[in-house]
Amino acid sequence: MLGIETSCDETGVGIVRGRTLLADAVASSVDSHARFGGVVPEVASRAHLEAMVPTIHRACEDAGIALSDVDAIAVTAGPGLAGALLVGLAAAKAYATALDKPLYGVNHLAAHVCVDELEHGPLPEPAMALLVSGGHSSLLLVPDVATDVRPLGSTVDDAAGEAFDKVARLLGLPFPGGPHIDRAAREGDGTAIAFPRGLSGPRDPAYDFSFSGLKTAVARWVEAKQRAGAEVPVADVAASFQEAVVDVLTAKAVRACREHGVGDLLIGGGVAANSRLRALAQTRCDSAGIRLRVPRPKLCTDNGAMVAALGARLVAAGLPPSTMDIPADSAMPVTEVLV
Ligand code: KG4
Ligand code: ZN
Repeated sequence: MLGIETSCDETGVGIVRGRTLLADAVASSVDSHARFGGVVPEVASRAHLEAMVPTIHRACEDAGIALSDVDAIAVTAGPGLAGALLVGLAAAKAYATALDKPLYGVNHLAAHVCVDELEHGPLPEPAMALLVSGGHSSLLLVPDVATDVRPLGSTVDDAAGEAFDKVARLLGLPFPGGPHIDRAAREGDGTAIAFPRGLSGPRDPAYDFSFSGLKTAVARWVEAKQRAGAEVPVADVAASFQEAVVDVLTAKAVRACREHGVGDLLIGGGVAANSRLRALAQTRCDSAGIRLRVPRPKLCTDNGAMVAALGARLVAAGLPPSTMDIPADSAMPVTEVLV
């Protein structure tokens, strides 16, 4: 199964045989967006167009296969940036037509969940999934990743990674800010500043997230320091902000597991690379008797292997392929695993 991912700024091409990963080639346009402080859709689309064919060839080379060895093609149909998705879909349709192989248009979020099967084997059913990246923050109940993915909650404003990126910018750290905050926070005190925990009150929705109030609170705090002519304690701000984010993420994920009687939690998406999130999730899962699965960082960020993994899983489940006229769906609901 060849998988193509182009929903944001990574051109990913993965190749799997069943649950065995054969190749995971990624070309990122992240550097072209850095000076804008965020992903510019038109720049991303153009970069996908340029990277697509070379990345397909690199993946085949890495896997030691010819294109003619491919049995089926999976592609992210949504959600994501419309123009970026279109490039991947057009490429996938072209290869499927030229090779006369079936096409599977799949959901990006379900692919983030399914990728863990490449590393840790079959997903327990049901599993709980916390997906946190620059584009999404969702809590999903997953009875069966091929056919039954149920959204429990998501962010009502910024995604978790987006909050990391915005706070990093405020602190003068480069884009994307997550890894820089993570690093700065190691020198700081996570309890130094009591930043707010969004949507954590007794009457708030249990499984939804909000990070824009936190971002504003950090901005106000930093501005007040600057106005007073004082130096901004970057490490303490980074650590306290990070603590507020991961506290809420892990508390809600563990609560969702407990309230739904689910014993396995999976965390995916770029923010899953965060060292404090991984550590606190482990501590809280251990004390709640929940097994934690987090794929290695390269499989957490956007990649083609996750799309190939889900494609292979759909074939194994005996589901029919998509038709050749499927559209890019930038707002594809998470309940639609396969178009
Ligand atoms: O999954 P991903 O590569 O792309 C999207 O689909 O968005 O996630 C990128 C996001 C960025 O916001 C980045 O700042 C964040 O993941 N990120 C991190 C860390 N590494 C990447 N956030 C916190 N800590 C990290 N170590
Ligand atoms: Zn993603």
